[in-house]
Amino acid sequence: MAEHVIEMKGLWTQFGDHIVHRDIDLGVCRGEIMSLVGGSGSGKTTLLRQMLGLERPARGEVLIFGEALHGSDPGIMRRLRDRRGVLFQEGALFSALTVFDNVALPLRELRTLDQGLIHDLVMMKLRMVGIEPQHADKMPAELSGGMVKRIALARALALEPELLFLDEPTAGLDPDRSESFVTLIRELHRELNLTVVMVTHDLDTLVALSTRVAVLCEQRLLIVGTLDEVVANADPFICNFFMGERGRRALTAGKGAQYLA
Ligand SMILES: Nc1ncnc2c1ncn2[C@@H]1O[C@H](COP(=O)(O)OP(=O)(O)OP(=O)(O)O)[C@@H](O)[C@H]1O
Ligand SMILES: [Mg+2]
Repeated sequence: MAEHVIEMKGLWTQFGDHIVHRDIDLGVCRGEIMSLVGGSGSGKTTLLRQMLGLERPARGEVLIFGEALHGSDPGIMRRLRDRRGVLFQEGALFSALTVFDNVALPLRELRTLDQGLIHDLVMMKLRMVGIEPQHADKMPAELSGGMVKRIALARALALEPELLFLDEPTAGLDPDRSESFVTLIRELHRELNLTVVMVTHDLDTLVALSTRVAVLCEQRLLIVGTLDEVVANADPFICNFFMGERGRRALTAGKGAQYLA
């Protein structure tokens, strides 16, 4: 059986008397791109936050690289710091810092690299995401939405993580920029041997990238499987999500055309 980089076992999330997740079991295998879908407010971002150790489960546990996030060892968060990167749904960059300083931030926090090395690493990361060196001194407000996403991705990858979390990576991008961002994620996933957990409501992004898809509905995971397996499920939420107008368009355009026969 494939190695699980992330494992959630019987996980519940609760805010006051509001139950967001109920008995979630989910394993993410090394090297896959796991997409998480569900309605707005269904708890997708909160599930990512559980995987990052930013929320505490009301019940159940989360294991990352085989270690319990909320076990007895408080050193785990420090050990995980350079093994994972995150592209958050909101506030992709610090608006008061230049492009260079945004990407340099996680490298400086290590406190072990000299200025020259930090400079070289930042420029290499910017090149990797297709940002020209002349943009390094700009402020985020001077950039397009597509560039901001790319730079935020460069920052997420600054410490060369094995595990990458993406929360709505293509939201707010026009179709061309969205497509080129998807291509970038696909290339980096392959070149850097990343394991990716991605939240998206964009079906084009979902079809283009997912190894497996997990569907969150009414506090539970309805199904976890390949796109074939998910689309074949007759649940009304899934039919509505994948077989509505937008879904049919994405499946026709992408590799999912066979589902519409
Ligand atoms: N810190 C918190 N305190 C109280 N309630 C919270 C907190 N964080 C999230 N919630 C609630 O948990 C539920 C799930 O929120 P979450 O942001 O995970 O949804 P989502 O699926 O990411 O939605 P969207 O698609 O709009 O991004 C919502 O009802 C939200 O109000
Ligand atoms: Mg969200």
